[in-house]
Amino acid sequence: MRVTLATVMSVDARITQGETVKTSFWRSVEDGAVLKKLIGQNQVLIMGRRTYQVVRPKPNDKRLLVILTANPEKFADQAVPGSLEFVSLSPKQLVALLDTRGYQTALLLGGASNVPFIESGIVDELYLTVEPSIFGEGLPLAQGMAAATPLRLVEHQQLNRQGTLLLHYEVIKNTWLLRPTDSLTGQHQDADGNNPVTQQMRAPHNIDNTENCYCCNQ
Ligand SMILES: NC(=O)c1ccc[n+]([C@@H]2O[C@H](COP(=O)([O-])OP(=O)(O)OC[C@H]3O[C@@H](n4cnc5c(N)ncnc54)[C@H](OP(=O)(O)O)[C@@H]3O)[C@@H](O)[C@H]2O)c1
Repeated sequence: MRVTLATVMSVDARITQGETVKTSFWRSVEDGAVLKKLIGQNQVLIMGRRTYQVVRPKPNDKRLLVILTANPEKFADQAVPGSLEFVSLSPKQLVALLDTRGYQTALLLGGASNVPFIESGIVDELYLTVEPSIFGEGLPLAQGMAAATPLRLVEHQQLNRQGTLLLHYEVIKNTWLLRPTDSLTGQHQDADGNNPVTQQMRAPHNIDNTENCYCCNQ
């Protein structure tokens, strides 16, 4: 299954403007059009319970809407099997389930719910829209990630005269990047703790070699 993440954020990487919950108050019309197109290209939309309660998307038979919540039973009266489903699953469990049901594309529209998907190595590409504002406060794009995720810019586009930017990245898979604060000798492993490889960190980083360790080039 191909998983795409779409987010709009400020220049200081806030996905909400302070306490303002609705992105529609500050996202550009042009970004709204990008989002609409991405939604149209995907068979499944995935979002966290809080985002669902802000956006309140209507179920339809064109695509499956999956809402993550630890308490699916609380939403039993709103669920419409095949259109609007509430689940309590890890990112890998959810993608495995969607795979077995034959879905091939999913768009991740979560808030903080996005982070475990990125950490699990499930996200294939990101569409990040940067609105030309500095918010100072608000939810950060990816708080509390255990390790950095290397990306490669596929394309970029200026969406309007004010300077809204659309950045399209692909995730460089099976690589690990130590953060500057990490120990110089790191044990590299994926989000599930598999495939540990003990590496000695070297500078400078070789960002072009995707076959080997992202930071160690071994
Ligand atoms: N700028 C953007 O592109 C963008 C995109 C999306 C959302 N937003 C904004 O972000 C805000 C909401 O983001 P948020 O980070 O506060 O919340 P969120 O990610 O929308 O929802 C968090 C909730 O999702 C549930 N959840 C997440 N992962 C789960 C899992 N694996 N299993 C079970 N439940 C899981 C939990 O619900 P329970 O508490 O029910 O267990 C958790 O409290 C809204 O203001 C929204 O407008 C902005």
